Amino acid sequence: MSNVIAVVNHKGGTGKTTTAINLAAGLTRYSDITSSCLVIDMDPHGCATSTLLGKLDGEPPARSVFDVLRRAITPQDGITSTVYDENIDILPANPSLESMAKTQINDRLAKVVASLSTSYGWIIIDTPPNLGVLTQNALVAADYALIPTQCNGLAVPTLRQLKAMIEKIQERPNMWLQILGVLITQKDGRTPLQKHVRRELGQVFPAADIFKTVITNNIKIEEAPANFQSIYAYDSGCLGASLYRDWIKKEFLKKHTKLEKLKVERREQAEKEAAES
Ligand SMILES: Nc1ncnc2c1ncn2[C@@H]1O[C@H](COP(=O)(O)OP(=O)(O)OP(=O)(O)O)[C@@H](O)[C@H]1O
Ligand SMILES: [Mg+2]
Repeated sequence: MSNVIAVVNHKGGTGKTTTAINLAAGLTRYSDITSSCLVIDMDPHGCATSTLLGKLDGEPPARSVFDVLRRAITPQDGITSTVYDENIDILPANPSLESMAKTQINDRLAKVVASLSTSYGWIIIDTPPNLGVLTQNALVAADYALIPTQCNGLAVPTLRQLKAMIEKIQERPNMWLQILGVLITQKDGRTPLQKHVRRELGQVFPAADIFKTVITNNIKIEEAPANFQSIYAYDSGCLGASLYRDWIKKEFLKKHTKLEKLKVERREQAEKEAAES
């Protein structure tokens, strides 16, 4: 079974791609679950694709997730290895993915992910800054939603909309989708996190869903992707690396284990009820 994580927030620039790619690299290093990881880039802008393939201004990949979603090629034929990390593969994005956003099909990616679930320990899906079909596909395909957000009061209305979308998808078609947590990113390191911000976020998500680790602004986090490296490979001793590493080891993996147990219990309960009826 794969552990499929959709990294979502329809506000732009909240650290989705940064978190998705550093999470992928962190999981191959620090998780006990098999070390292989697949990143699926569902953002037509392809920022994760450029970093993982080492092509900042290059041609977009000829074979992409768009071709897989329109069933022109198999998922295996769309996947490629990365220069970023030998244990991370990518199903890359291409600008043509934008045309898929105009359709109403929101379960295509789920079928693709299901067909790959025995091949990878983790599947991380990066999403675009909107709640359209591409993000919906990611949430329908995912076991978990991970929400990076900046730490200002303006984030709250956006998070309310996102939560409503997640709840709609949990009703149908993906009743197994769980919120892994909200990760505060890009905080100005000089000022303490204002209490009211955590309180306001707490009005949308229960406190237990907001990670205690806060990823502060760190120039190395910004530099690493331009060098096609994760933060750990670029400078394992820097503050950014230790923040992401601590978050993964001390919070992310523990929360994941807890939610996996909950999922097993819910499945057993559902099976019992089905057998009794
Ligand atoms: N902790 C951080 N410290 C410094 N820079 C950061 C940090 N996190 C993200 N950035 C930078 O902020 C910008 C936006 O981050 P990122 O691209 O990850 O956001 P995003 O949510 O994926 O954006 P989009 O919605 O456009 O896809 C990038 O230039 C990234 O390098
Ligand atoms: Mg992005």
